[in-house]
Amino acid sequence: MTAISGKVVAITGASSGIGEATARLLAERGAAVVLGARRTERLDELAQDIRDRGGRAIACATDVARPEDLERLVDRAVAEFGRLDVLVSNAGIAKIGPMADLDVEGWSAMIDVNLRGVLHGIAAALPVFRRQGRGHLVTTVSTSGLKIVPTQAVYAATKNAVRTFLEGLRQESTDGVLRTTAVSPGFVRTELTDSMDNAHVREQIRRTMDELAIAPEAVARAIAFAIEQPHDVEIGEITIRPTVQG
Ligand SMILES: NC(=O)c1ccc[n+]([C@@H]2O[C@H](COP(=O)([O-])OP(=O)(O)OC[C@H]3O[C@@H](n4cnc5c(N)ncnc54)[C@H](OP(=O)(O)O)[C@@H]3O)[C@@H](O)[C@H]2O)c1
Repeated sequence: MTAISGKVVAITGASSGIGEATARLLAERGAAVVLGARRTERLDELAQDIRDRGGRAIACATDVARPEDLERLVDRAVAEFGRLDVLVSNAGIAKIGPMADLDVEGWSAMIDVNLRGVLHGIAAALPVFRRQGRGHLVTTVSTSGLKIVPTQAVYAATKNAVRTFLEGLRQESTDGVLRTTAVSPGFVRTELTDSMDNAHVREQIRRTMDELAIAPEAVARAIAFAIEQPHDVEIGEITIRPTVQG
């Protein structure tokens, strides 16, 4: 038995990278996981693989830009497993490039997924957490918001907006019902570069990832650490980056 055993955890962006690694680790440690993302084939395969290994998992098609999809994800968790203990709002895209590219579409897409997507999750999960008397919101933000570098301005802004409203929510939620955790990874070896449209920037980031990125399992362990604390202990912020990252 672990402190994670028996918890019900919904994870957005569970079809690859950090979300997938988190789903696998939490399921291994006895959580029931509800997997959300748009690539349903990958979700179905992952859910099946977790069940084949003796875990509990279901897949639920989710586009975080659509508030009704987050409601469905939360409803599925409650319908299948009786409650929702944790929502890991992890889905994200990185349409990075110099602001001078004026990639208005990419900026909007990042706002829709990285920012609105997390708000939609909060709107869906908070009533359930309040009804249950407890709940935990975990989000994947980024070290991009801690050290602002060229090409990542708008991406970093979406992550820092999340950091800001999570702190506000925390201040408004000191009655002991809600825990909030913002996890800031540095370079992690995932498929995030696939969402980058600027070929030059994408290649640059891929090279850096090959050179120094850490495995997504490292971030999964950090998320598990926040979840496994007793409910009166809130891990507010975790920064986890390659030791060699500047
Ligand atoms: N990798 C890094 O170096 C790094 C560093 C700091 C922070 N992060 C953050 O970590 C989080 C996870 O990214 P990752 O690195 O694991 O990259 P990834 O492998 O590309 O995973 C991103 C996940 O987000 C999902 N997603 C994208 N748009 C979505 C939408 N509209 N609705 C639902 N799901 C959506 C993708 O699934 P579908 O395409 O199937 O929908 C995928 O499962 C992101 O928030 C990212 O910003 C990553």
